[in-house]
Amino acid sequence: MDNTETCNITLVGKTPSINHIVRNDLSLKVIAVTSGNGGSGKTSIAINLATALSHTYGKVLLIDANFGLSNIDVALGLHPKSNIRHVLSGKNSIDEIAIQGPADVQILPAAPYDPNLSSLNNKEYLELIHLISQYSTPTNYVVIDTPSGIGNDVTLINQSASHILVLINDNPSSLKRAVALIHILKRIHKKKMFLILSNKVRSKEHGEFLFNRLREKCIRYGLDEHLKYCGCIHRDENLENSLRSQKTIFENYSRCNSANDITKLAHSLSYISNPDSDGGIELFHEHRLQLDKVYKA
Ligand SMILES: Nc1ncnc2c1ncn2[C@@H]1O[C@H](COP(=O)(O)OP(=O)(O)O)[C@@H](O)[C@H]1O
Ligand SMILES: [Mg+2]
Repeated sequence: MDNTETCNITLVGKTPSINHIVRNDLSLKVIAVTSGNGGSGKTSIAINLATALSHTYGKVLLIDANFGLSNIDVALGLHPKSNIRHVLSGKNSIDEIAIQGPADVQILPAAPYDPNLSSLNNKEYLELIHLISQYSTPTNYVVIDTPSGIGNDVTLINQSASHILVLINDNPSSLKRAVALIHILKRIHKKKMFLILSNKVRSKEHGEFLFNRLREKCIRYGLDEHLKYCGCIHRDENLENSLRSQKTIFENYSRCNSANDITKLAHSLSYISNPDSDGGIELFHEHRLQLDKVYKA
């Protein structure tokens, strides 16, 4: 099965529950933190963004979508007894594998190492997204730490999100790979909006400069109008040090540059509205539909 065949699949799942709304003024947002290249800061930003959202804006579920080679448990020094592999094998339900992380964030752990889970075919991927969507604890934000690259594992998980946050930095390959990822997600998966975050920047101007370079590169593919700049995260050794000690930035260095940047990012994401459905496979599809109805009523 190639990518194009996955776009219009509609899932039939268990009866949608309204559990996913916990405050009347909030809808469920599913934010994929992604990039075309490794080492761009996805795991660091996903963990800290989830924490910042949980501090102020509602209940958060953090998904480690590096399904066959877990990131988040290692980054936070957690030792989950079960993980997504046990859900796929039918041993556990999705609710049973969730563990509590910092600031009350709920985490869905990936397998420590399972090559089969790193190379799921599209059908298995869709099944996995379906199973994750059965998670039943009230939630306002789902933050997904995606793998890197432009393979199916990356594009399908991005397809399933309501918001795609693409990280860029001044690594020579970062912009090129970001363009490729955005191009595939737009052309094949019909995604229409890409939130861009400049990471590891020297200054606010440096962040804007990187975004403008990305926009220029996107013009030739007609993608520039689909980008929305979300600001920047300063290069900050406190962020590195915090994760080295398996903590979030807010635990030890809550007043540093990167903590302020991540707090601002959480604030802007709390205001961004959900786009209309693009017709593709979506995580929590039925919950989101249900919430839209509540909103528009
Ligand atoms: N804003 C930042 N400032 C300093 N170091 C950062 C920043 N963001 C990420 N890092 C560091 O970059 C490295 C890669 O980050 P990681 O989150 O593992 O990337 P990815 O998940 O994209 O592979 C880690 O050492 C992390 O501490
Ligand atoms: Mg990572």
